Amino acid sequence: MKKEARDLAREFKTFLANNEEEDFIIKAGAAKAPASLPAPAKEIPAETAAPAMPAPAVSDGAKAKILAETADEILRCQKCPLGATRIKAVPGEGNPDAKLMFIGEGPGFDEDHQGRPFIGRAGQLLTKMIEAMGLNRDDVYIANMVKCHPMIDATDNEKRGNDRAPSPDEIACCRKFIEKQIAVIRPEYIVALGGVAAKSLIRDASLTSLRGKIYDLELDSANLNGDVKIIATYHPAALLRNPNWKKDAWEDLKMLMREMGLSVKKDR
Ligand code: URA
Repeated sequence: MKKEARDLAREFKTFLANNEEEDFIIKAGAAKAPASLPAPAKEIPAETAAPAMPAPAVSDGAKAKILAETADEILRCQKCPLGATRIKAVPGEGNPDAKLMFIGEGPGFDEDHQGRPFIGRAGQLLTKMIEAMGLNRDDVYIANMVKCHPMIDATDNEKRGNDRAPSPDEIACCRKFIEKQIAVIRPEYIVALGGVAAKSLIRDASLTSLRGKIYDLELDSANLNGDVKIIATYHPAALLRNPNWKKDAWEDLKMLMREMGLSVKKDR
């Protein structure tokens, strides 16, 4: 077995929790993709789309600039009560030219302390999922529906396990930021991680009914012309609680890989 295949097999091993799944996934095997995905066509810089106008493509440098400006706005935002209790806002991070974007629900304890998305235990699993696809975190963009830590006990941001899902009001209040990030990055594909992101971005239905299909993303603030596809899968935190769902999550990612033209090999 070649070294690269051995490395991949090792990655899959860590992605999976039990022997049956491990056996399955190593047999399915994914080929390593190029370190970075092909660069998108360069376009003339343009402002983010106005409502009902096609979202313009934005050049590489301009994307980074608009994302940085959006991040500044997020860091200053006090529009909902989460602004008053956060330690750090978590705008998102990654490749402004990413073809693939992962969107979770909202920062947890670790993210609130460090200002970066998906860096706690669930984030470590997300990194393994990305690597199992033959990519790495630098290739993709990672963000959340809400940018500040929703807490059960809003008086104690130093308590672990004090996380909750964002409320519909909090999501509505923060929505303009994720819509702007999507419109600027204009990825070809988005993975909605968990029911909160899936319901907010696809439609109000159960995660179970939304999984397994590829949708055209529609935003209120920008006409994406059907250029951005979205799928839903389990949130990595849910996979940590229910490792037997990892096999289904891997099926979701393989569906996406086939759609993206990333190779999913049947052999090692
Ligand atoms: N869960 C999320 O939804 N997002 C994060 O950034 C971390 C955990």
